[in-house]
Amino acid sequence: MIRLDKYIADSGSLTRSQASKAIRDGRVAVNGTVVRRPEQKVDETRDSVLLDAVPVRYEAFHFYMLDKPAGILTASRDRTQKTVLDLFPPEIRKHGIFPVGRLDKETTGLLLLTDDGDTAHRILAPKSDISKVYEARVDGILTEEDMMRFREGLVLGDGTRCLPAGLKILDGNRALVTVREGKYHQVRRMLASVGKPVLELRRLSVGGLSLDPGSEPGRFRALDEEDLCKLFMTVPLEK
Ligand code: URA
Repeated sequence: MIRLDKYIADSGSLTRSQASKAIRDGRVAVNGTVVRRPEQKVDETRDSVLLDAVPVRYEAFHFYMLDKPAGILTASRDRTQKTVLDLFPPEIRKHGIFPVGRLDKETTGLLLLTDDGDTAHRILAPKSDISKVYEARVDGILTEEDMMRFREGLVLGDGTRCLPAGLKILDGNRALVTVREGKYHQVRRMLASVGKPVLELRRLSVGGLSLDPGSEPGRFRALDEEDLCKLFMTVPLEK
């Protein structure tokens, strides 16, 4: 059981004080009856809560997908540089969301943010085996031999061995790269190791979740039920 004002604030649309005011103004009904006491307890698993006659779904955790722009740090805060959290308004930041993993400053594309530490941990765990797909534009012409080397598992310049990865050539200097691990600067280092330095890198998907068609850097939205199903289908259950 939780307080009604917290229930509404956790659902994301209002701050706690806005929720309290909405309740006192008679805009909130619980199980069909208008309730004017913000401190009233509700059962978040059973009670039906309406705000202005629209159902409010309780969210214990919050998940967002951001199409990360280039030039922004993947971090929660930084003294001097703009971070991905700076792209979100305070009413979303208040949930305490943080980026799940990291995209390089110049990489664009799909970045998940959540306040669910357990799920973030399971997505990031080295044995999670979640595929991530990137579109890369490189300096040079990609070849069948590069594809074979990716498939066999590359050894990077410093001796780091990568798991087998996918390289699908779209045209001479553009390709889709699929990796199942998340080593530091991995895709850039893999392509550099076959002599094709990355000029542009964009992440298109993480597990079953992809950027929206026509998505543009800077856009973000909350994940809906369908997105969460797609994501959780690919996230292992154990830590
Ligand atoms: N691999 C990279 O090299 N950079 C990223 O941002 C993500 C994967």
